[in-house]
Parts: sequence; structure tokens; C-alpha cells
Amino acid sequence: MTSNGFLDVSVSPELDLFLEIEKLKKEKNAIILAHYYQNSDIQDVADYLGDSLGLAQQAEKTTADLIVFAGVHFMAETAKILNPNKKVVLPDLRAGCSLADSAPGYLFRAFKEKHPDHIVISYINCSAEVKALSDIICTSSNAQKIVESIPKEQKIIFAPDRNLGAYLIKKTGRDMLLWDGACMVHEIFSLEKITKLKIRHPEAKLIAHPECEEPILRLADFIGSTTALLNYTKKDDSKEYIVATEAGILHQMELASPQKSFIPAPPTNNCACNDCPHMKLNTLEKLYLCMKYEEPELLMDPGLMVAARKPIERMLEISAKYGL
Ligand code: 13P
Ligand code: SF4
Repeated sequence: MTSNGFLDVSVSPELDLFLEIEKLKKEKNAIILAHYYQNSDIQDVADYLGDSLGLAQQAEKTTADLIVFAGVHFMAETAKILNPNKKVVLPDLRAGCSLADSAPGYLFRAFKEKHPDHIVISYINCSAEVKALSDIICTSSNAQKIVESIPKEQKIIFAPDRNLGAYLIKKTGRDMLLWDGACMVHEIFSLEKITKLKIRHPEAKLIAHPECEEPILRLADFIGSTTALLNYTKKDDSKEYIVATEAGILHQMELASPQKSFIPAPPTNNCACNDCPHMKLNTLEKLYLCMKYEEPELLMDPGLMVAARKPIERMLEISAKYGL
């Protein structure tokens, strides 16, 4: 039934999917974990909505029997690695990540072997294979603290995001060896168009995710993970923001601060490229179907899960130590 990566079953347009999903949650003791980049309707039915760190932390502590992961493949993998005995389903198995894909396991292994005196810090946006080759995982919420937790004399490989890596080098003063990967969404913002937008909206603050390129970050008034960006717009007293990250986060910003306006940062061409095409493969209908039929299920090699778990646990321990 899931040969295309999702359940190809028609759903009656008369069905109240919000109601049906709530019923299925109770019936199956299921939890919906969703990332801020999901469509608004999916965000509205989520039991927990968050950034990559929040989602990993919720996955670690859930008591649900069924984990329904509305995000992309590497995020669902992290939930499964932390819950090897639970069933993890996702609306569309094809929801990948250009950043994770930029570091194929076999190439990363060869790269690591060339630098045996380095330890590996990997951004959570990577495959389970790359996680298993890493010493410690980080997310955009805790990356600085994780890098700073490593003794100064220790050499570090940082993978796979070159923009986050360069940002961390600047913030921490550590000279890390960077893997040359990037996110297709965060690299699409146009410096020229943002500059013009700032002239037209002189009061607007530019807020950016650290996966953006350096010239955008240089212009930004605030840089942070999706949760940090959302919290900033809640506390800051500006009325207008240009948001340089995936456009899904605007839903929560608008709900939290209805009196403020949020302008998605413009991409280099006229497409809706600041919508992640992977995240947006998930729809409310596919979410309903995957809960109802418990398919597609994420299945992983047990040995790989054990190897990839250690560096994730190290990340969670350090995050807890710093109250992140
Ligand atoms: P965070 O969830 O850490 O903000 O990362 C954003 C992202 O690109 C997720 O794919
Ligand atoms: Fe990957 Fe970028 Fe999409 Fe996040 S926004 S899932 S990093 S492609």
C-alpha cells in the first residue's frame, strides 16, 4: 500500500479530519510530534510542536505507544533511535532533507578516516549512518554550547551544514573542519531583495536561522533556531519582522503576536522556495491515513540504532545540564 512512500487511499472530503485525528490519538495512545515547518493544519493538531531539539527531547520522554512524526525522515529516525521498541509512523516516507543528503554515509566515513585526530560533531540534520560516525550531535538550539563543551585543544570536524559551522566558528573562535553541505531552503534568500525590503520597512527587524548564508546573517538583528526566533518575536517590542527561515514558522509567530506583522524573507527567484518541499510533502490527509493504518512505518537496522543513539544521548545530557 505504501509503494510510493505514503498511503495512496482516498479520503472522503466530508470527513472532519481534525475530529478523526483526535479520536485516533485516544484509541491508539498516539502522540503527534510536529516541526514548526509543517503546514498550519498539521501544526494545529500536534500534541507537541517544536524545533529539532524540542522534538528529540519529547521523543525521549514520551509514554505513547504510537509516535506519529510530522516532520522529515532524519527527525523520525531520531525518535525511533530513542524509542527502538515503539512504532514510529510518518505521513510520507519520502520527506527527506537536502542537507542530510549532502553527507552520504560512505563519503563521510572516508572523510572522517582522513582526520583520525578529530572528533565529530554532527548537526542533527543528517542520516543515522552519519550520526553513528559522530561523537556528539547538536541542533541549532544547542550547537554553541556543544562546541564549547569540547576541550580547546581537541580538533573538531563539524558536519554537514557549512553555514551553521561557519557561524559557530565565528561565535566560539574554534577552528573546525567543515563538511561542505547546506540546506536548499536557507540558501535561497536574496541579499539584494532583503536589503530593498529593509529600506521599504525601516522599522522591521531581520531575524534569521543560522543555516542561512553569512551575508544574510551579517545583516540580521537576531539569529537563532526556530524556537529562539519565535521566542524573540514574543518578547521583542518591534512591530514588524522579516523572517529568514522556512515560512511554516510564521503561523506560530502570527498566533502568538497577532498585532505584529511577519514578512517571509524573499528568495532569489519568484518561487515559493522558502517552503521546504520535503516538509511540505506531509498533508493532513496523509497524517490521518498514517495514524489510521499505522503505515508507513519507519523501520531501522537495530545495530545502526544502537550506534547512532550514543551521540544523541550525549547531546541530550549536555542540553539538560545547561537547561536547554
Ligand atoms: P531547528 O529545528 O533546529 O530550528 O532547525 C531547522 C531545520 O532546518 C529543521 O530542518
Ligand atoms: Fe532539510 Fe532545509 Fe528542509 Fe530543514 S528546511 S528539512 S534543513 S531541506
